[in-house]
Order: sequence, then C-alpha cells, then structure tokens
Amino acid sequence: MLNLTPLQLLTTTRSVRKRLDLTRQVPHDLVLECIETALQAPSGSNAQGWQFVIVDDAAKKLAIADLYRKAWRKYAGIEAGAAQGRQPASGQDKIVGSADYLALHLHEVPVWLIPCIAGRTDQAPSWQQAGVYGSILPATWSFMLAARLHGLATCWTTLHLMYEREAAAVLGIPYEQFTQAALIPIAYSLGEDFKPAPRKELAGLVHTNSW
Ligand SMILES: Cc1cc2nc3c(=O)[nH]c(=O)nc-3n(C[C@H](O)[C@H](O)[C@H](O)COP(=O)(O)O)c2cc1C
Repeated sequence: MLNLTPLQLLTTTRSVRKRLDLTRQVPHDLVLECIETALQAPSGSNAQGWQFVIVDDAAKKLAIADLYRKAWRKYAGIEAGAAQGRQPASGQDKIVGSADYLALHLHEVPVWLIPCIAGRTDQAPSWQQAGVYGSILPATWSFMLAARLHGLATCWTTLHLMYEREAAAVLGIPYEQFTQAALIPIAYSLGEDFKPAPRKELAGLVHTNSW
C-alpha cells in the first residue's frame, strides 16, 4: 500500500493514460480487493444494485477498444468543430494528446473494470437518473481511490457507452436490465508521484443560500 494521507489520496488520484504500465500484469485478487472496498459506497435505498465486470480477455478487450476508438474519433471530431474560433482551455491540448494515447492502447491495458447498475435511465425523469447513476458512481470512484492506494493507476472513461449495446453483447451484460456506468482501465502506474491538478478557482463556484 502507498503511504498517502487521506488528503493526498483525494488530491492526487489522477486520470492516468500515458503512465499506465502496459507490460505488468495486475493480480485478479487485487482488483477484487479494490471492488470489496468500493462496496462500502452509498447507493439509493442501500439497494446495492451494482455488478462489476472485470475484463482481461484479449479478444473482448480488442472488440470493445475498437468501439471506444470509433466513439473517440466521433467525439474528437465534435470537439474540434466546437473549438473552432475559440482558444483551447489551459491544458486541453495536453488532455487530447493523452486521450489519443489511451484510445490507441486501450486494448493493451492489462485489465478493465466496467461498473454496472440495475435499471436504465433512457426515458427516466432526472430524479430517477440521479438515483441510478448516483448508486454506482460513488462506488466507481471508491474503486479508483482504493486502486491508487495499491499503486494502481486508473482513468475514468465513458466513450465506449456511445456503443453500450454492442459492448454489452461482447460481455453478455443484460442491456435491458443493467446500465454500464464507465470503463476503467487498470494498470500499475509508471512512478507514483502524482500531483494535485490545476482546477477552477473556488470563488465563482460556490453559492451560499442563493445562486
Ligand atoms: C464522467 C467522466 C467521463 C470521462 N470520460 C473520459 C473518456 O471517455 N476518456 C478519457 O480519456 N477520459 C475521460 N475522463 C477523464 C477526464 O478527462 C479527466 O478526469 C479530466 O481531464 C481531469 O483530469 P484528472 O482526472 O487527471 O484530474 C472522464 C472523466 C469523467 C469524470
């Protein structure tokens, strides 16, 4: 386990893409241990309607990585169009380089986690959407924090969800009953020195009693 204070853990769990060690196997039991920690997360009505799909099969990773790349090309095209005529936000070009790298190498990442939650939100009102996603996203983040503590690196990704139904078919996930929330690539990190990231100023983000 890394010797991190709780504050260090919370402020240095980064989206790792270029510093994923693609050559070192991640023990299955370690992934299970991180999921076990994640089970302490809250869920609506304590329903715990979550399911966690670990993916380390080369052919399945390749099939879904291809879906991810198709989505990434579409998304990058949309972003490029939207960015025409405006200055990129600070660090934005760096993210694209790194995201390109992840898209290219996604199938080489030793293991992935796809957290799923019972129910679908496709036609649901916002309070139900919040309830469904809010019942899996805290556990997903807990998983990533636990992974970091064990020297593993992760990156929250969602782009493959553009083709969620196709990915469900590859993995045998019952699409009509379960929503995939993310795809988390997992690898040992190359180095452990991650830093707090530049973020927006607190002033301007907080409202007390009135917007
Ligand atoms: C809901 C969500 C969806 C994301 N989807 C992707 C994705 O599909 N691919 C990717 O490379 N990064 C994805 N990210 C990672 C963000 O780009 C990243 O969190 C952000 O750039 C801040 O970097 P940091 O996590 O290192 O602080 C996603 C993050 C969130 C929270």
